[in-house]
Amino acid sequence: MYEASLINGTCFTCKPDTSILDSANASGITLQHSCKTGQCGVCASKVLDGNTKILKAEIALSSEQIINGWILTCCREAISDVALDTEDLPDLSELVVKTWPARIDSIEHLTKSILRVILRTPPSNSLHFLAGQYVSVIGPNGLRRSYSIANAPRNDGKIELHIKRVAGGAFSEYWFEQANANDLLRFEGPLGTFFVRKPLPRKLLLLATGTGLAPIKAILENIASLPGNEQPEIELYWGSRHAEDVYLDPSLIMCSSLKVHLLLSQPAEAWAGRKGYVQNAVLEDHSNFDDCAVYACGSIKMIESAKAALIQSGLPSNKFHSDAFVSSN
Ligand code: FES
Repeated sequence: MYEASLINGTCFTCKPDTSILDSANASGITLQHSCKTGQCGVCASKVLDGNTKILKAEIALSSEQIINGWILTCCREAISDVALDTEDLPDLSELVVKTWPARIDSIEHLTKSILRVILRTPPSNSLHFLAGQYVSVIGPNGLRRSYSIANAPRNDGKIELHIKRVAGGAFSEYWFEQANANDLLRFEGPLGTFFVRKPLPRKLLLLATGTGLAPIKAILENIASLPGNEQPEIELYWGSRHAEDVYLDPSLIMCSSLKVHLLLSQPAEAWAGRKGYVQNAVLEDHSNFDDCAVYACGSIKMIESAKAALIQSGLPSNKFHSDAFVSSN
């Protein structure tokens, strides 16, 4: 067995044939991650010293990153002691991740193709999570799908999901055609490392496409609960294809300083608002990223493009956090 050390001094044992991410987890240490399948790039870290061996394809790494010594910790095991240019996330160490029973509390059509589903856990069994995290819902026939929790933790323990219809999707078919209030489901959670890091920066830029708004809404609700003088300046860029995809009004979340930019990429002629893609809009509006952090959730294309462009424009790479829509284990 080998030892991995992180730049903040945390160390853990790496087991053979086990990803560095899973070895950390087995030691009660959480490293930044999302999909665990090599697709999202959230777990990327530079190796400062030591050797690793590939366990599964590192789809999210560019050839330039590979040449420069980057790895995906969900895809590689250590084959010597290793030093990694990353930190762990102690904020998550208190949270209990397990499978919870839950009933559907309500189902509401927000648009023809987007549902708001509220789940409730038994009163004695309430889920503790950080705003921005997701759960893996286990439905009929053991089907699993990951959904971000769209609310900040609330006193009644209920969680809100935003569910988009996927043509031909088996779970989608369940939500849109069969699900009823009081149906019993299970979910695993809380999962993921998409939450706002402390201390809060002076400015937060939040980027979302489609139902990627869900964890961003949770983050906004969480910040809205802070005293006004502790809230950062916030700008939200939310992109959809068409006007009918705009399924709620984020400006109703009462943060003291929230500016919402709504963008449509394929608007009808009558659309008088902003057109285009969120990553382009952020760069049109901002050139100074001092004391700023970016949180992005939605399509992998938006996230890859936003990350590359923002880092090139001066945002430090450790100030870009994302949760991409990819399949998860
Ligand atoms: S690529 Fe490792 S968590 Fe997504």
